[in-house]
Formats: sequence, C-alpha cells, structure tokens
Amino acid sequence: MTQKKPYELFNKNTEAIVFGMQTKAVQRMLDFDFLVQRAKPSVACIVNPTRGGSHKCFFGAEEILLPVYKTIEEATRKHKEADVMINFASFRSAYNVTMEALENDKIETVIVIAEGVPERKARIIAARARELNKWVIGPATVGGILAGQFKIANTGGTIDNILSSKLNKQGSIGFVSKSGGMSNEMYNVIARNADGVYEGIAVGGDAYPGSTIYDHLMRYEANPNIKTIVMLGEVGGREEYKIVEALKTKKIKKPLIAWVTGTCAREFDSEVQFGHAGAKSGVEEESADAKNKALKNAGAIVPNSFNDLGKKINEVYKKLNKGKNAEDSRDAINRVSTKITIPEDYAKAKKEGKVRKPTDVVCSISCDKGEEATYFGQKISKVACDKQKGIGYTIGLLWFKKELPRFACEYIEIILKTVADHGPCVSGAHNAIVTARAGKDLISSLCSGLLTIGPRFGGAIDGAAFYFKDAFDRGLSPEEFIRDMKEKNINIPGIGHKIKSIQNPDARVVGLKKFAKKNFKSTDLLDYALAVEQLTTAKKGNLILNVDGCVGITFIDMLNSMPKLFKKDEIEEIIKLGCLNGLFVFGRSIGIMGHFFDQKRMNQGLYRYPMDDVLYLS
Ligand code: ACO
Ligand code: LMR
Repeated sequence: MTQKKPYELFNKNTEAIVFGMQTKAVQRMLDFDFLVQRAKPSVACIVNPTRGGSHKCFFGAEEILLPVYKTIEEATRKHKEADVMINFASFRSAYNVTMEALENDKIETVIVIAEGVPERKARIIAARARELNKWVIGPATVGGILAGQFKIANTGGTIDNILSSKLNKQGSIGFVSKSGGMSNEMYNVIARNADGVYEGIAVGGDAYPGSTIYDHLMRYEANPNIKTIVMLGEVGGREEYKIVEALKTKKIKKPLIAWVTGTCAREFDSEVQFGHAGAKSGVEEESADAKNKALKNAGAIVPNSFNDLGKKINEVYKKLNKGKNAEDSRDAINRVSTKITIPEDYAKAKKEGKVRKPTDVVCSISCDKGEEATYFGQKISKVACDKQKGIGYTIGLLWFKKELPRFACEYIEIILKTVADHGPCVSGAHNAIVTARAGKDLISSLCSGLLTIGPRFGGAIDGAAFYFKDAFDRGLSPEEFIRDMKEKNINIPGIGHKIKSIQNPDARVVGLKKFAKKNFKSTDLLDYALAVEQLTTAKKGNLILNVDGCVGITFIDMLNSMPKLFKKDEIEEIIKLGCLNGLFVFGRSIGIMGHFFDQKRMNQGLYRYPMDDVLYLS
C-alpha cells in the first residue's frame, strides 16, 4: 500500500471490500482496473453475511476468484491492505454495516450506496466518521472516481462511457456534486472542454451526507494535481455559504467553477421538493438563484445557466494552459485508451454474431434448448402422456432414433419384464444384496449388481446375436457353427444355463419364442438357433438356448422384419454398440433395486460368506 497524502482518499493501489453480492458493480470495477492497467484488482474481497466462499469474475480475459466472507472482521483480517468499504447494504442495514466498518481499524473510507437511510442515523454516521477522522461518502451515492486509478462501483457507467469521458486517464479538474447522475454528465462535459477529471465525487442527495461538497473542495484545494475545481450545488440547505466564506477568506484559491442546480424552482409558487431528499428550499437564501449569486460575488466562476458550464470550464482550462486546446490532450488520451480493450462477454458477442466456437460435444438424440426438451424431436410431455407411447417407444427414440411400430415396442417391453429379476441367487441380485447389507445406498448397491453383468451372466445377448447371425449369414450349418466355435475355444453365447435344461425348460424363453413366432415376418435366426440347441442339448441337457440367447436372436429377427426402418449395416451397428445387452441392464435394474429395497425394509445385517463354503488351501 503506497502512503496516502491527507487530501487523498484513493490511489492506484487502493483495495476495497465490497459489502453485498453486487457482482455487476464488482465486474465494472475490475474492467476499469484492467483498462487502466492496475497491477492488482481494486476489489480485494466481498462480504456476504448469508454465504461465504468465492466469486468468479474476469480480470481482463482471465477468470479470477474473489474471496467472499461472511463478516467484515474476517475480510479485514485477511485483507489488511484494504482500507475502503463499498457498502451496498440496504437502507435497513446500511447504518449497522457502516458503523461496524467505521469502528474497524483497517477501514478509512466507507461509501454508503443505499438510499433512504433515516436522517437521524445518517447524522450519527457523519458525526462518528468525523470523530474517528475517517471519510464517509453517501448515503444515497453512486460513489466517485479517481480517474485512471480507482473507481467506486458503478460510477462512470459502462466502459464506453468511461472512455468517452476520459475517466481512464487523469485530467486536472476536481469535481464534486450531490447527484451521481449529474456527475456522469459532468465528467463528459469536463472531458469535452478540458483535459478531464482528476477526481470526481458524488456526496449523495440526502440532507445529511457523511461528507459534504465543502469537505471535498478542501481536499481538492490541497491536492497539487488538481488545477481547477468544478462543483454542482443544489437548491436547499446552506452549505454553499460555507463555500462562499472559504472563497472570501481565500481558503479556496484555485479557480472554482460553480453552479447550483434548481434555478427553475422560482417558476413555482410553492416550495418544491426535487428528487433528492435534501433538495428543497422554502427560504429565499436557500434558493439556487441566491446561492449562485453569492458564489459569484465571492469570486467563483458562475455561468449564466447550466448549459454554459462547459464554456466556462473551457475558458478556464485555456487560460491556465496558455491557450492549449483540450482537444490536444484528449487525442493523446484516446491514443492510450485504444491500446487496451476489455474483452467482450462471450454470451453477448455470440448473440451479436461476432464470435464462433467449435463445440466439444455432439448430441443427436435429445435436445433441451427449446421451450420443452425433446426425445429425438418429440416433446417429452407428448411422449409421456400418450398411452400408445410406452417405454418401448421411448427406447426406440433414444436408442435407435426411430419411431418403432407397435409390435416392436411391445416386444421390447416384454423383454424388459422378462429379464427384470430371477431370484436372489443370480450374480447381480446377490451382489446387490451383499452391498445393501454392508450398509451402502441404493445407487452403490445397484451399481454393484449391474457390474456383474457380462459374458457369462446377462451380458451374452449381443454376443449371441453376433455369432449366430454371422454363422447364419456365412451359410454355416448348425454342426459347422458348433465346430467352428469349439475350434475357436469360445463358449457359444446364448447357450447354456446353470439350472435350466431340456428337462426343466426356461418358461421365459418359451414366452419370447411364442411372441416372435406370432409377430415377426420371419424367424429365420431363431429357427437356426433352435437347430443349434437341438445339437448342444443332445450333448448336455443344460446347453439350451438361454434367455440371453433368445433375446439376442429374436431381436435380430424383429429388426429384419422391419427392412425399411433398419438397414443391414444399422443392425450390425446395434449389435456392435451393445444395445441388446442394454435391454438386460435396463430390465434387470428393476429387480436389483427391488432386492435393495427388500433388504433395507427387513433391516438385514451384514452378510458374511459362510466359511464352510470355502475350501481353505492355506
Ligand atoms: N457353448 C458350448 N459349450 C458350452 C457352453 C456353451 N455356451 N456352455 C457350457 N458348455 C460346455 C462347457 O464347455 C463344458 O464342457 P465340458 O464338460 O466338455 O468341459 C460344459 O458345457 C460345462 O461348462 P460350464 O461352464 O461348467 O457350464 P455351466 O453350466 O457352469 O455354465 C454358463 C453355464 C456359464 C451359462 C455357460 O453355459 C456359458 O458360459 N454360456 C454362454 C454364456 C451365456 O450365454 N450366458 C448367459 C446365461 S443366461 C443369463 O445369465 C441371464
Ligand atoms: C437370470 O436371468 O439371471 C438367469 O437366467 C441366471 C440364472 O442363473 O438364473
């Protein structure tokens, strides 16, 4: 932190604590910082009593994280260099927050943004600040700016405004007013008629500001960088007479260009209340006309109207700078400013068609960009509420990107119901039960069950479809196929079962076969598989066409029944992608979850594998 002179409130190293999650104001401060090439952001941190953490924002093109604390105490303890607090608390809590900040050793200046702070409380704030020799700007202020060095919150408006008002570069004019809106206007007037503002402060429009126009004029008088002072007073109050006195007693020696707004009040018959709480006058002395006259008589440069202010500023500037035109300085300033630009926000630039960005992800099955998300172009609510469109239809849209005909949707649903569960002893259910009993949650137990699905258990469907179809397409006889697989030393996927056999047939398979025979145009592959089964079961009774095999093979027959919808290469792709195993995964999830709920419902304790079922070799 560079040492500040008594007349300085801010410099290029000033760091502020922002009270309140005013993210737009924070970003504007950081954009200004980047523009003027500050070494460090002017916002050290944010205080947000309801939630701490961090806030992501930009410093130029880089994203930075600003710490967010819940208390002023923590913020000042962790950011010892921050001596300014920009207080965005509402009018209800602005008093407490300001008083706490004033009592904090680290904070030297508090800017109070809230409007409507009760006058009684505003007076206490002002008095306490004076006692502690600290500064309060506001309440009801937009703040102020030290051109090219430090900007309070939304002062100066957008970056374009800041550039056109030359606030990115120091000028030689000290400006102070009550109104924030008028100060933005005046920054521009000053920029057009002189070399720009050195410092500008809006003290706020309340009757009892924490610091007054007079207070800041005295700082400007003491600051050697400020050559000319411009002030905008306001109808109401007697503060301008203090300035008149200062002019008379030569406490103010620098050229003071002054204008008191509200001269139109004379057009009204009764007392007028202007926008600001303090802007009303009942007595002649407090009228704008009287104050302008007194200021002029005391030596201030007072134009005939607000519109002439710029002209007066220009005259004084030329006089002090020996006729040098303000335009020369402005050109120099603009040359500097064009070197640095604030990167545009991506969303805005994209909307305006200024940037394009290659995407990382391509999705062709669903979309959530419109009013309602869709499944392959169909609104979810339309699919969900249509009795004709069941789970089979939904799978058709999301897995195959097709509207499947009724019989195909029905068959998918039959498969799902068929494979939903096969008792507690099968690998998937068993694992899920053990996991649930070890105290784990639904998803862990489900995943543990699903992870057992593979080439021997439930995951032989695509394999069966592939090998049977391949042999059939190659014209192999059932004998040749069995021999071929034996030579390759591969168990035929879809053949064999642990407990089901020719003597103890699997009723599920019987049901699937029946549906296929009745509904598919042809069942060539199923017939081929049954011929294979005849040979394998002749060797060993349990080498039946199992449920995996039957699903895989009949599914291919089903797809072949829809040649317009599924081309040959699409069918091969479906097998390659593992879609058919997906049917088992999806269907069996129903049963696995059932086992999880069952175990939890019965509050079953930890399972330990029975030792008498283990052959111990050591
Ligand atoms: N193809 C050819 N021969 C087989 C097959 C098969 N699919 N399955 C078993 N055999 C033979 C074995 O080579 C072995 O022969 P051998 O006695 O001459 O050495 C004999 O049958 C016994 O083999 P095991 O592996 O002990 O048979 P088990 O009954 O334990 O295995 C299993 C059942 C794992 C399903 C087995 O048949 C197999 O691997 N099948 C293929 C994978 C499959 O389809 N899994 C899905 C099952 S259904 C479901 O999980 C929902
Ligand atoms: C199943 O569907 O889980 C079974 O076919 C496996 C089995 O061994 O019962």
